[in-house]
Amino acid sequence: MNEESKPEVRTAEEFREQPEEYQTAIRKIVLSHAINELYGSQVFDEPAIALAPTPYAKWLTCRIAMEEYGHHVRFFELGREIGIAEEDMIPQTSAKRPLSIFEYDLDSWPEFCVIKAIGDLAEILQVEDLLHCSFHPLRNLARMTMPEERFHSQFGEDFCSDLIETEDGRQAVQEALDRMFPAMPAFFGRSGSVNNQIYRKWSIKMRTNDEMRDDYMSRVRELVEHRLGLRLPAIAG
Ligand SMILES: [Fe+2]
Ligand SMILES: [Fe+2]
Repeated sequence: MNEESKPEVRTAEEFREQPEEYQTAIRKIVLSHAINELYGSQVFDEPAIALAPTPYAKWLTCRIAMEEYGHHVRFFELGREIGIAEEDMIPQTSAKRPLSIFEYDLDSWPEFCVIKAIGDLAEILQVEDLLHCSFHPLRNLARMTMPEERFHSQFGEDFCSDLIETEDGRQAVQEALDRMFPAMPAFFGRSGSVNNQIYRKWSIKMRTNDEMRDDYMSRVRELVEHRLGLRLPAIAG
């Protein structure tokens, strides 16, 4: 596709004038964010408030839950503007299932800290890839949520650093990594995905799934092995 045909879509009105393929691609991304931001808030962030061990940790966890629900609300509002049905953006009434990374049963504080450290790091990469998106309302949403996702991942890293100061804490964080991490690479989608080709064709996203996954692997390795001094579990296949 040549430069000329790359769209710059500034408003929901301009969106409605775009080809069907463009509209469908944007709706897929917004729908996925709306569902997963809400589901993550429901199964991880809100329950984690009760698991947080100190008033300080509860305060920051409340802030995270508030921000994650806020991400859902913003994607939900954008989704409504571009013609996605409200019930489709709510996991409990949608035909679309939340991502498999949320199938993890959260029952301890160290697990939540690991989820934020490595899960929200993956979310940072996804949001980064939308920072130059041709659909400006989505680009703006990515720019708004980015500092919050950075805060969530940093929160996870900071609390993991505190936990690993004791032997028990170190073991708990390592065990959570061992259970949680193997599901992460699949979060970036299949190699050669047709959806991803369409996203790049229309300058909605910039990178291939494999490029994102490779970048994630090097950033998560830096975090787990170098900054935390723990072991990154091997990935099967
Ligand atoms: Fe989020
Ligand atoms: Fe987050």
